Amino acid sequence: MNVEPTKADNLVLRRKVHIETWGCQMNVADSERMLSLLEANNYELTASGPEAADLILLNTCHIREKARHKVLSRLGVLDRIKSKKPGLKIAVTGCVAQADGKKLIELAPQIDVLIGPGKIDELPRLLEEREQTGVSAVATGFDRHKDEHGDRGAEHSTISDEPMIHIPSISGKPEVNRFVNIIQGCNNFCTFCVVPFTRGREISRPIPEIVKEVEYMVSQGAKEITLLGQNVNSYGLDLLGRDDVPADGGPFVELLKAVSDLPGVDRVRFTTSNPHDFTKPLAELFSSHPKLGRYIHLPVQAGHDRTLERMKRKVTVEEYMQRIKWLRDAVPGIAISTDLIVGFPGETEEEFEGTLRLIEAVRFSFIYSFKYSPRKGTAATRFLDQIPEDIKERRLAALNQLQDKITLELALADVGSVKHVLFVFNSKKEPGVWIGKTPEFRVVRVHSSADLAGKTLPVKIMGGNKTALVGELVH
Ligand code: SAH
Ligand code: SF4
Ligand code: F3S
Repeated sequence: MNVEPTKADNLVLRRKVHIETWGCQMNVADSERMLSLLEANNYELTASGPEAADLILLNTCHIREKARHKVLSRLGVLDRIKSKKPGLKIAVTGCVAQADGKKLIELAPQIDVLIGPGKIDELPRLLEEREQTGVSAVATGFDRHKDEHGDRGAEHSTISDEPMIHIPSISGKPEVNRFVNIIQGCNNFCTFCVVPFTRGREISRPIPEIVKEVEYMVSQGAKEITLLGQNVNSYGLDLLGRDDVPADGGPFVELLKAVSDLPGVDRVRFTTSNPHDFTKPLAELFSSHPKLGRYIHLPVQAGHDRTLERMKRKVTVEEYMQRIKWLRDAVPGIAISTDLIVGFPGETEEEFEGTLRLIEAVRFSFIYSFKYSPRKGTAATRFLDQIPEDIKERRLAALNQLQDKITLELALADVGSVKHVLFVFNSKKEPGVWIGKTPEFRVVRVHSSADLAGKTLPVKIMGGNKTALVGELVH
């Protein structure tokens, strides 16, 4: 028998990539897309950490200064690994790559490839270019939207002309919940936010392409699909060539129906929904399409009209409350979460108290709360009355204290009820403990020796705290 390695065997010796993803779920979806491109170019994911890799990919976030600092300190650590392993390549992608561009390479010359979110499809080409030229390869910026003839413009497009459908999960294993980017970028320019600068203008993917990608994910074991965009409600407006959402809810409502009609999809979530473009038909879809669950994330940012105006959020508190009413009329008891910023420039005590009042009026199931972080290039950085750090700290603590109380009260109100829980994974630290989500997006922990992954089962809620409920399977 011939035991010499054949050409085919040599091909199987694949290079290893280690991927670190920070920031929002859009970055997770982008990392998966880059993994798919790398797999087609003879790479495979390594689970053995950066030391075992031939390529380290950092997919970065720029949303607050803390997120950016993380990248710089991580690059320092990776430089030490690289100095011991010649040939190891470091690629920096994501929003810091776009925002800092070549300046980042001056700070960290160990970067071999730098790619903004608008150019991730160029990763294999840039790795090749780095190999050929020996100098760092860079691609940032955004391309024109496709014109009415269907061309994506002279350059390569953000979203490739060749729809990529077979996207692996970033863990390398089948996952119950998968993320699908449906719209890139943002046209809103809220005055605190870097995203329009790091992700460019809105570009939607066509519905059939999204549907095919979801079908593939379902064939790989996905049960819950989360559709992603910085403003999902304006999905498809660019394809229609209009600025406002049609009265029937427009293309986003159409897309949600198409995805939730797919066999094998048990739950459809979406994020982020912008209150400005949120329509009544979208709220009503929750009652006609139970796969949407009984939960929505609807970021408000602040609870006073003057703050909202300076933030350029384009809705008033009253308009926000109207959206909450549409949702609660459609689905009584629907769980709602939000994002809030404290210490936005010029925020007075009275304005801050407006935010506390809003929390009490809506009774959010949970919140993501942030201290305002000035971002270079955004309008609010130039606002004169920046709030001192100690006041931001105090307001953040007060906000979280109030919300923690409400989160706990709402969670405990579930005790004694039976919820249909979709099980997502089992705890690595505690064998036999399965983690799932209720339709209201509350985390539930259940003991079971059976494999529950991907199953939706009735669970009696026995107790819980502000982070998780505890339940028992109902037989
Ligand atoms: N597109 C989403 C927001 C994405 S960014 C929306 O419009 O709701 C996620 C959250 O980060 C924001 O909702 C906001 O609460 C927070 N954030 C964004 N920029 C920030 C900044 N400069 N300082 C503090 N928090 C910020
Ligand atoms: Fe940022 Fe506003 Fe766009 Fe959200 S809607 S990504 S907060 S600019
Ligand atoms: Fe961060 Fe960019 Fe997302 S700045 S939050 S990774 S869009």
